Amino acid sequence: MKIINVVGARPNFMKMAPIIKAMNRYPDEIEHLLVHTGQHYDQKMSKAFFADLGMPRPEIDLGVGSGSHAQQTGQVMVKFEQVCLRERPDLVIVVGDVNSTMACTITAKKLGIRVAHVEAGLRSGDMEMPEEINRLCTDVLCDYLFTTDPGAGENLRAEGVADEKIIFVGNVMIDTLLQHQAMAKKLTTGRDMGLEAGNYAMLTLHRPSNVDDKKTLNGIFEALAEIAERLPIVFPIHPRTRKMMHEFGLAHYLESREDGKGILLTEPLGYLEFLHLMMNARMVLTDSGGLQEETTVLGVPCITLRHNTERPITVEQGTNVVIGNDKHRILAAANDVLEGRVVGGRVPEKWDGKTAGRIVAWLIANI
Ligand code: UD1
Repeated sequence: MKIINVVGARPNFMKMAPIIKAMNRYPDEIEHLLVHTGQHYDQKMSKAFFADLGMPRPEIDLGVGSGSHAQQTGQVMVKFEQVCLRERPDLVIVVGDVNSTMACTITAKKLGIRVAHVEAGLRSGDMEMPEEINRLCTDVLCDYLFTTDPGAGENLRAEGVADEKIIFVGNVMIDTLLQHQAMAKKLTTGRDMGLEAGNYAMLTLHRPSNVDDKKTLNGIFEALAEIAERLPIVFPIHPRTRKMMHEFGLAHYLESREDGKGILLTEPLGYLEFLHLMMNARMVLTDSGGLQEETTVLGVPCITLRHNTERPITVEQGTNVVIGNDKHRILAAANDVLEGRVVGGRVPEKWDGKTAGRIVAWLIANI
């Protein structure tokens, strides 16, 4: 069986790494090829992850880069079509919900190639999120839908997807987390930054709904500045957010302070350094999807600065609260954590480090 594995943007890499490792255990059954669309291309947004995760270099890089949604999606489609025509795979595997995920799914299906989606069925119900459009388009076309939790399967069934296409396997991103936890623990990144374990917060912020509007972004940073008076906030800044903060004249929030408090700005971090900082943090403030899941497994309180989540299991079972982006709500949620009013969660079913093995075993048995 010849398989093309597709990655495009940062959150794809930690999902694909364990799948490739699991495939390598079956050299007689599976021939696989890694395609990087080039949606993310900076050293820190892309290449650093390959080293950290022990991933092979992609055999093919489409080098698409940034652009409007239509430009990026269209370019991935045109270039990926050539790859599919040349390589003639039996199956394409896509992960997550970025533009590359949807673009490669449409392209392969139109050539009559089967496609499997890993992390299928997640729904925020928010059509203003580009990722929600990507999720819907991808899932409606895919032949095999590997889900992280039973709720995702229910979403798919409610959309009319046949039962036999839905395979509940668990969460591949947690495979990667569990594989790298011991290594991350040994790092000294926190100490080197002058941080005390359990006495700082981690922040990530990059969603257009938070960073593309000046008033919203300013309100978020007013809240963060207050929280940062009580404990430092480490902020590995996404290139999109850096650009918007400068454009809106909000860069003063990012200035370093003599007293070690405030917001500690860093470049985007590698996987291991980020994991190290996250596992020792008092809390995580984020608008990322993946961090909601990782904090749930690590038992670190997570405050999600969004109005909805496609990962409700992290709220029902994990440590996540979804509170929107209003200044007062952010402050109240951080206070709850600092005053110990947040109860720990539990780890969802099949988030056990064995998901990639289940996916590959299923493919071998069924395709
Ligand atoms: C994309 C995904 C989002 C994911 C996020 C993780 C879509 C629709 N969005 O959003 O789901 O959570 O990745 O980071 O697919 N840029 C760089 N260097 C890079 C990549 C991007 O400087 O290597 C800058 C460019 O200015 C670019 C901007 O970041 O225009 C946005 O990049 P893009 O890939 O369009 O979307 P993200 O916001 O990263």
